[in-house]
Amino acid sequence: MNERDSEQVARMLLERGHTLTLREEEAEVILLNTCSVRDLAEQKALGKMGLLGAQFRNRPVAYGFLGCMAQSRGPSLLKDVPHLDIVVGTQKFHRVAEYVDQVLERKLARPMDDVRFSIVDVEEEQDSQRAIRDHLLAAGQVTAFVSIMQGCNMHCTFCIVPYTRGAERSRPVHEIVDEVRSLVARGVKEVTLLGQIVNLYGRHEFAKVDGKSPFVQLLEAVHQVDGLERIRFTSPHPIGFRQDSIEAFGRLPKLVEHIHLPLQSASDRILKAMHRTYTAETYAKLVDRIRLVSPRIALTTDIIVGFPGETDEDYAKTRDLVDRIGFDNAFIFKYSKRKDTPAAELEQQIPDAVKEARNRDLLELVNTWAKRRAEVFVGQEVEILCEGPSKTNPKRLMGRTRGNKIVVFEGNPRHIGQLMKVRITHSSGYTLYGDPAVLN
Ligand code: 5AD
Repeated sequence: MNERDSEQVARMLLERGHTLTLREEEAEVILLNTCSVRDLAEQKALGKMGLLGAQFRNRPVAYGFLGCMAQSRGPSLLKDVPHLDIVVGTQKFHRVAEYVDQVLERKLARPMDDVRFSIVDVEEEQDSQRAIRDHLLAAGQVTAFVSIMQGCNMHCTFCIVPYTRGAERSRPVHEIVDEVRSLVARGVKEVTLLGQIVNLYGRHEFAKVDGKSPFVQLLEAVHQVDGLERIRFTSPHPIGFRQDSIEAFGRLPKLVEHIHLPLQSASDRILKAMHRTYTAETYAKLVDRIRLVSPRIALTTDIIVGFPGETDEDYAKTRDLVDRIGFDNAFIFKYSKRKDTPAAELEQQIPDAVKEARNRDLLELVNTWAKRRAEVFVGQEVEILCEGPSKTNPKRLMGRTRGNKIVVFEGNPRHIGQLMKVRITHSSGYTLYGDPAVLN
């Protein structure tokens, strides 16, 4: 979602005549879009901003913090970071370009000005979810993110997002479909629908129709866009996964076989304390129901270790379920205290050494399963959407399977942007390696 929001900002800056550079040392404007989900993310952003300020002390650069940390810390950031000019929260991305121009004008006109001129905007804005809609597509780009809603009302006790992103607000179906249609007209073949709680899309705004949730209605509408080949979405909440959305996987061929389904914990006691309103058993049953409709679906998840009060026994339950389900991959997070969240106030915070040990142990298990899930493809022919050069070796190409596995192969530039068959020759943990299958 941050990538997507940054893209909107970049696009608006370009429209006002700015250009993008990959070189920090020649930038006149440096904006860091921040994440607050864990303290580490905030520390990284603060560290980076400090470094940049020290590096470019002798020329006028406009610096800004955008997004979640800007939202939650607001004007206090100006005190912590003396060279900061702009602080813009999560509902005002569409105003950033304007603010940048105001700051630049001031700086260039009076570079030696002692009086500090800064802009802070962390207000709420009605309908701000509809402002993230413009794209910057690179030549040959065939995948795009589409933001369908903002905010979250679930109030998981560990999570800062409801405070930084605000309440759930969804965009109308027709606006999203128009956006997808225009992306497809520009060459996009795969879209990822984004929301903090994506499968609860539209629950406050739109009614069910024929027993179908607004989310499934949206999937159907997007599915009808001619020329679109693949639909992904992230991230759903297990409790929002009703039968209609499970059945969609059996019915809508463009909906790919991958679900990122955050588990967080498999101890019912901890789930309750997290305010995740499901149990380990209902989660496992949900996985069974999904696999019944789509047996080869790839499942990935998020897990927090070391939530306050998590005992060895609680952790063992998480470990057991992770082993029972056998995820294709998982992000594991050490619990991080977040300001103003209920879990931060709980006693029985877990020592970092314990979090670290559980993190390491679980990572090992997750990696074992990731390997197993990837190895299944060796010797098989799979369909990939070729996205472009591989990041690790630009001489090779990379694409993704419908199940979101990365495939690296020796290809030809003409393959970029193509849906194509590749024969998998080997696997290294998560990444698959292949050869283009003989095209007939
Ligand atoms: N500490 C650790 N991990 C967290 N997450 C959210 N809040 C916290 C926190 N306070 C993780 C959850 C979520 C993912 C995006 O980040 O697992 O699904």
